[in-house]
Amino acid sequence: MKKVIVTGGAGFIGSHTVVALYEAGFEPVIVDNFSNSQESVIGRLEEITQRKLVLHRVDCTDEGAFREVFEAEQKLFGVIHFAAFKSVNESVAEPGKYHHNNVGSQKVLLRLMKEFNVPHFVFSSSCTVYGQPNRLPVTEKSPVQPALSPYGETKQICETLIREERDAGSPLKTAILRYFNPIGAHSSALIGELPLGVPQNLVPFITQSLAEWRGPLTVFGNDYNTSDGTCIRDYIHVVDLAEAHIKALKWLGDQSKTAFAEVFNLGTGTGATILDVIRAFKKGTGLDVQYTIGDRRPGDVEQIYADVEKARTVLSWETQKSLPECARDAWNWQLQLGDKPEE
Ligand code: WQD
Repeated sequence: MKKVIVTGGAGFIGSHTVVALYEAGFEPVIVDNFSNSQESVIGRLEEITQRKLVLHRVDCTDEGAFREVFEAEQKLFGVIHFAAFKSVNESVAEPGKYHHNNVGSQKVLLRLMKEFNVPHFVFSSSCTVYGQPNRLPVTEKSPVQPALSPYGETKQICETLIREERDAGSPLKTAILRYFNPIGAHSSALIGELPLGVPQNLVPFITQSLAEWRGPLTVFGNDYNTSDGTCIRDYIHVVDLAEAHIKALKWLGDQSKTAFAEVFNLGTGTGATILDVIRAFKKGTGLDVQYTIGDRRPGDVEQIYADVEKARTVLSWETQKSLPECARDAWNWQLQLGDKPEE
């Protein structure tokens, strides 16, 4: 089987991609230091895949420890790099932590992939690099705008490091995947999104509010220039997103030319307002999300959603799941979490 290192493989998108890799006949090798994920995810992944998974408990910024993984795992087909901190708010408060981890791990990984001649690289990027697009839907050719947060800046720097390696003649074949808003959970409800503390992201807050772990949702502003005044995003089911990584790996493996970095937008291609999401929860779960209207959240873009033509035509990939299905799966995941953990 083709062996693939999955850094951050115990995380939200990483864990769902480990399942998709196994089901597609790849051999996932998880590298995670559990700095932003739960160790219990590994056991749940083994329950879903019904096999013992390979895990290296390593900090990706630790070059010595990470080199030992490459030495142990000979003949690697590729690497998918999820391991990064991803909270916009936290990055504003702790920029150094984000640059050390997100950019530091990227530098280490690029050095090791070159040293061990690992040819295929899938990098986890974000629509955050677009800022507030001037035109919608946003394509891969839309301008990258000055980052609105240190988190977004680290994603832009990581993309630049890949292009600089390409320009320096490194034989790396790279797919840069710009995610829109990943939500939902695996149909087994054994893995899903579990942010530590009060969720910053919309859907985990909604499910925790429905579970009465939190009070009503605060909708951050309804005076935007949109159909109902609330912000628009492109919410993509995490299982659809995981599948895109498989399609990207297979596509990379089929490319004869080397030294390239190809960008792909991964979204549904359809924008949804906050009230659309609330309606989707009613449709997908039968539940009414209680909410109040609050002030705008600083740093929020008004609206962004993807043009997904390139991933559809080049990777033969497009999303399969609807917003109500995302809501249903997110709620089923929340339900099995049981009581609210101590905070
Ligand atoms: C979505 C919408 C909020 C919470 C960020 C990162 C992005 C990615 C996903 C990592 C916005 C509104 C939210 C709430 C609300 N992370 N909202 N009440 O900000 O689009 O994207 O997280 O890759 O890179 O930038 O996602 O879920 O935080 O917000 O009204 O309690 O929901 O204002 O319009 P966002 P989000």
